[in-house]
Amino acid sequence: MFSKNQRIAMGATICVAFLSVSGSAEIDTSKLPPVSTKTGVTYEKDIKPLFEKSCFKCHGSEKQKGKLRLDSLDAVMKGGESGKIIEGKDSSKSSVVLSASGLDEDTAMPPKGKADPLTLEQQSLLRAWIEQGAK
Ligand code: HEC
Repeated sequence: MFSKNQRIAMGATICVAFLSVSGSAEIDTSKLPPVSTKTGVTYEKDIKPLFEKSCFKCHGSEKQKGKLRLDSLDAVMKGGESGKIIEGKDSSKSSVVLSASGLDEDTAMPPKGKADPLTLEQQSLLRAWIEQGAK
């Protein structure tokens, strides 16, 4: 049988392992760039060009990583294998914003070094587009 100390040690190890797993999935949304004040933001005019440059390579007509396409508004609204990437008008809960922020290395999009990440200004615009209803 295990001694009391061994049991305490095992318990502590499990706790630490659990904390580090949940810790990496948690994103501090206060670190997201602010929502842009630009009005009338649309997919065709403002967002598609950003996705084209940083995302189409893996989420367009040739490849659909994570079963996700970003090359039409319909496809963006549909989402990928994990479901919707836009949560209503809440940009800070939308996985497309969280992944594009790169705040969590595990879910960062584009994956580190694979394409140009969105600039802070582009992320602000992406947030504004969602807050305005993702038209
Ligand atoms: C070099 C390839 C590559 C590029 C470029 C890329 N991605 Fe991805 N993306 C992936 C891969 C691979 C997955 C699926 C595996 C994973 O979850 O890591 C994925 C998954 C995702 C998901 C989750 C989809 C789901 O439902 O599980 C989102 C959201 C996403 N990407 C957004 C973006 C955005 C936004 C951009 C551009 C700013 C981008 N990606 C650029 C490779 C890429």
